[in-house]
Amino acid sequence: MSVRDDAITAHGGRELVDLQAPAAERAALRTHASSLPAVPLIARDLSDLEMLASGAFSPLTGFMGEADYTSSRDELRLASGLPWSIPITLAVEEATARALRIGADVALATESGSRLAILKLAEIYKVDRKREAEAVFGTADDAHPGAKNVTSMPAYCLAGRVILIDDIPGRAFMEYRLEPRATRAAFRERGWKKIVAFQTRNPTHRAHEYIQKAALEICDGLLLHPLVGETKGDDVPAAVRMETYKVLLDLYYPKDRAMLSVMPAHMRYGGPREAILHAIVRRNYGCTHFIVGRDHAGVGNYYGTYDAQKIFSRFRPDELGITPLMFENSFFCRKCDAMASFKTCPHTDADRLILSGTKVREMLRAGQAPPPEFTRPELAKILIDAMRESK
Ligand code: ADX
Repeated sequence: MSVRDDAITAHGGRELVDLQAPAAERAALRTHASSLPAVPLIARDLSDLEMLASGAFSPLTGFMGEADYTSSRDELRLASGLPWSIPITLAVEEATARALRIGADVALATESGSRLAILKLAEIYKVDRKREAEAVFGTADDAHPGAKNVTSMPAYCLAGRVILIDDIPGRAFMEYRLEPRATRAAFRERGWKKIVAFQTRNPTHRAHEYIQKAALEICDGLLLHPLVGETKGDDVPAAVRMETYKVLLDLYYPKDRAMLSVMPAHMRYGGPREAILHAIVRRNYGCTHFIVGRDHAGVGNYYGTYDAQKIFSRFRPDELGITPLMFENSFFCRKCDAMASFKTCPHTDADRLILSGTKVREMLRAGQAPPPEFTRPELAKILIDAMRESK
């Protein structure tokens, strides 16, 4: 099988899932939805709904039932055995769950009441959120933003196939919001066969650029694929990050080799488990390779620097269907007078420009640009201006 053929299948080896009602059926479905009991979704649920509906979460066709939930929590696999490292659930309060009937249709709505989707309610089940957080994040600690999100979710879950009947409101960056079918079409149009995806929730620093370009040396194209769903409060807002990505691509990347598109998922800070999910999702977007650097999707000191790389050895390459490209901690070294990594630089930390995220934020907040070997000055300016405006 050629690389191209391989890239066409979605996770699980089949077609991409499409849960969006055809335009011609939407009016009738909206009328039907208006008569149904409605469940309000929070922003993170809407983000999961968008990922499901577009096929980015293929082969999932809705919020998980109990067998997939337990299996993904404990085995990092769906009940079918297919790799899937983080449960995707729709949480509701007990009173809401008790008022619903299995087998019936339920409308999924925004908090202000707009009905966006219909859920074919197949199961209602109760879970232990603390156990889920401990399994997925290794902690149920409130200081871990992903764990806190999970433990604050109600224990009841609604499961079943969803059909999107209206556009999800409030979506930003529409020009860059390409669904998996659209990214795949864009890759075909550009003639790219080996496509490397870069997940990010941060502005691009020189280390990111270095590993992206190193990966690009062996691939045809780069999909710069920032996550733009909910992130924790002190992460740089997506709108600011988008400005940095656009400027960076414009000034420093060949136009026919790099493409910017956003991923609507929310950030779980699930380190190794989220790295697997991030890779699977990028396969669905049509990518063949996926960058995993140091402390991928990490937060604080919850995970080892390379845990998110090691976890890939739990799966056979053909089960994931996307090749992880692992990178060591990268930095600018004054003695090498170049970007380098622990793998390629023989010098010591005294020669290396390594700044923590906290330190960089402090500098930017004080209006001070990090050294150009750390952050491109054009990007530092965008970040400093944004910090000034947000004060
Ligand atoms: S993440 O939460 O999306 O992983 P971030 O946007 O900082 O955070 O990282 C994007 C990707 O770049 C991840 O694969 C991460 O491991 C990698 N990365 C970030 N900084 C470095 C670095 N200095 N050296 C090597 N890899 C890095």
